[in-house]
Amino acid sequence: MNTKPVILVTGANGQLGKELKQMEPVFPGFRFIFLSREDLPIHHFELVRNFFKGYQPTYLINCAAYTAVDRAESEKELAFQVNGESVGVLAAVCKEYDTRFIHISTDYVFDGKGKTAYTPESPTNPQSVYGASKLEGEQQALLYNPGSIIIRTSWVYSEFGKNFVKTILRLLNEKEDLDVVNDQVGSPTYAADLARVILDIIASGKWVPGIYHYCNEGIISWYEFAVAIKELTKSNCRIHPVPSAQYPTAAKRPAYSVLDTAKLRETYSTGSRNWKESLAACMARL
Ligand SMILES: NC(=O)c1ccc[n+]([C@@H]2O[C@H](COP(=O)([O-])OP(=O)(O)OC[C@H]3O[C@@H](n4cnc5c(N)ncnc54)[C@H](OP(=O)(O)O)[C@@H]3O)[C@@H](O)[C@H]2O)c1
Repeated sequence: MNTKPVILVTGANGQLGKELKQMEPVFPGFRFIFLSREDLPIHHFELVRNFFKGYQPTYLINCAAYTAVDRAESEKELAFQVNGESVGVLAAVCKEYDTRFIHISTDYVFDGKGKTAYTPESPTNPQSVYGASKLEGEQQALLYNPGSIIIRTSWVYSEFGKNFVKTILRLLNEKEDLDVVNDQVGSPTYAADLARVILDIIASGKWVPGIYHYCNEGIISWYEFAVAIKELTKSNCRIHPVPSAQYPTAAKRPAYSVLDTAKLRETYSTGSRNWKESLAACMARL
């Protein structure tokens, strides 16, 4: 009989889910179950309950989320169903079956008007439907399962899925000139680094519930990020800094999106790579 602790990953076909899958061989002490949206749509509560009846995983890492930030402005109900209510149900089911619940949230729960890094205790004030729906998920998780761990992260990219790094790489190939906003600052997060930290938390054997922040080290604008991506290619495309007012989007983005990661570092002795080092590591795999 296989007695290894079981880690269930929902939303397994997203950026973070796929990076967790890549990390599976590094953690042979655990048995992983990866479920995509097709395998287990988290908003189908009966399916979720039935799955837990059959499997009772030791840990659940919920990577499933409605992440279309602009579309959420016109699909509020769906965004709240997936990012809010469904997270509450997952948390409650985890409590019922004694499964430890790790949920991922976002810097968009803040309004971005701050001038210093946001701590997990900083007041939230989401400016978009997506941000509000993710905040609802955090609140429901902690209400139905106070033993949950929630990790807020920012500017996630990886070799998988759609993200800023891959979009810029494509545009560098297609264009001679590229405008990128320089008045929104934050910290990029390589999903592989986040995956590693999540699994390190689990493997530590120490479980301290609450909200944590994780991102790579360093603060940059999207413009600086694009320039750094270009520097790792042979592109001759010219990149120009522009104000975000020039690029109106359906959802408002926080201008200042810097997360203070001290609580996670102090509680779990985890490090965090500088964003440039992580970007180079991702680009090498692309
Ligand atoms: N990306 C960022 O910049 C960013 C920043 C901060 C925080 N986060 C948070 O980090 C976490 C991981 O993000 P990510 O970048 O890996 O997102 P992602 O690539 O968009 O992956 C999300 C996954 O969730 C799946 N999904 C959507 N609705 C579902 C449902 N009802 N049931 C089950 N699965 C469902 C999606 O399925 P399909 O593949 O079929 O669409 C997708 O595979 C999310 O909680 C996100 O909110 C992301």
